Amino acid sequence: MDLLIRDARLHPTRGSRPEPVDVGVTADRIVAIQPCGTLRAEGAIELQAGGRLLSPPLVDPHVHLDAVLTVGEPRHNESGTLIEGILTWSDRKQTLTHEDVKRRARQAILWEVAQGTGLIRSHVDVCDPNLVALRALLELRDEVRDLVDLRLIAFPQDGILSFPNGRELMREAMRLGCDVIGGIPHYEWTRDDGVAEVHFLFELATETGKGIDLHCDETDDDQSRFLEVVAADTMRNGMQGRVVAGHTTAMGSYNDAYAFKLLQILKRAGVTIVANPLDNVALQGRFDSYPKRRGMTRVKELDHAGVNVACGHDSIMDPWYPLGRGSMLDALSMLVHVGQMTGRSELFRAYEMVTTNAARAAEVDYGVEEGKPANFIVLDCEDEAEAIRLRPAARWVVRLGRVVAETEPSHSIVHAAGGDEPVSYTKEEG
Ligand code: FE2
Repeated sequence: MDLLIRDARLHPTRGSRPEPVDVGVTADRIVAIQPCGTLRAEGAIELQAGGRLLSPPLVDPHVHLDAVLTVGEPRHNESGTLIEGILTWSDRKQTLTHEDVKRRARQAILWEVAQGTGLIRSHVDVCDPNLVALRALLELRDEVRDLVDLRLIAFPQDGILSFPNGRELMREAMRLGCDVIGGIPHYEWTRDDGVAEVHFLFELATETGKGIDLHCDETDDDQSRFLEVVAADTMRNGMQGRVVAGHTTAMGSYNDAYAFKLLQILKRAGVTIVANPLDNVALQGRFDSYPKRRGMTRVKELDHAGVNVACGHDSIMDPWYPLGRGSMLDALSMLVHVGQMTGRSELFRAYEMVTTNAARAAEVDYGVEEGKPANFIVLDCEDEAEAIRLRPAARWVVRLGRVVAETEPSHSIVHAAGGDEPVSYTKEEG
């Protein structure tokens, strides 16, 4: 045995606070999970978890690494709208270089990894005749392989039918090595073009054997209804379980009768929905006065209907969202607030949206079990609900049996009148 984590609490606990365990790792596999104190391993590196939560890695199923850390370049998005974000990005895109993309994306990846993310699915804008960002991120994907599992999605930011040579650019992106097919039907010039785009994505999926993860209905327009086309094409093409739709914020504006119908076909189609609450709570509702819409898809209702729902970070300091630090627990905290998932059991359920559910959409071998790849994190908290409340440090991040990141929890001291009163927000070291 090479690595031994002592006294950890295993995900998923669902609030039942199971007895702590020891987790043993040999090479890149989990080889033993036993009651705390019973595992012996001569010569192994031992980490004392001190009763902290041991969880599979966090998963970011939806981020735009080509655009991260460009906020203010060439100008800030003063209106805060999606459209000004897209227009600002189309200007910034003119000055992209290979090194520029790699440097920014690498920085954001390190932030995510340090905070416990082990799998990232990034969209990459392919509306560029030279595919500069894509070539840079394909290279980076290999360079960071030891740190994180990075998957790339060919994302046609300016449309496929509405952008010169759009279909060929998508094909070229897949030929160059993209992992997943992206899309943006609601941004095409007409409804018919949007429907044609969705059909094209499924043709491309048939040609390449790859899955689909498209931006869909990211608008407050209740007439934006491409998700039903996606669900129907998923079933007609036998792609159940291989299709992801991101944002789908228009669902927040649909009437209940239509939303009910949609939930049924989404479940039958096995389409995963990825909500991106950080961006969308800021971007949507900008045409509203009051009451103002919340700008998120129907997370709770989708989950209740049996649809696989995950949560993405989406932007980190870019033209659409000037904030963000690459923390999936920040994104999840926003989700439980906007989606009103603050019930005790709902908090534990929500945690699956940045772990198990997001991993399922990525079709990866995932979970903390004997025989699985040794990918897990130890968070400085006791359970999943506390993880959302505290958004704590990732004490250790383990990828394929190797500690790839570690963080010492912070410690505060309050200087009260009459003496020092030490205050700790963190658990004592075991
Ligand atoms: Fe997005």
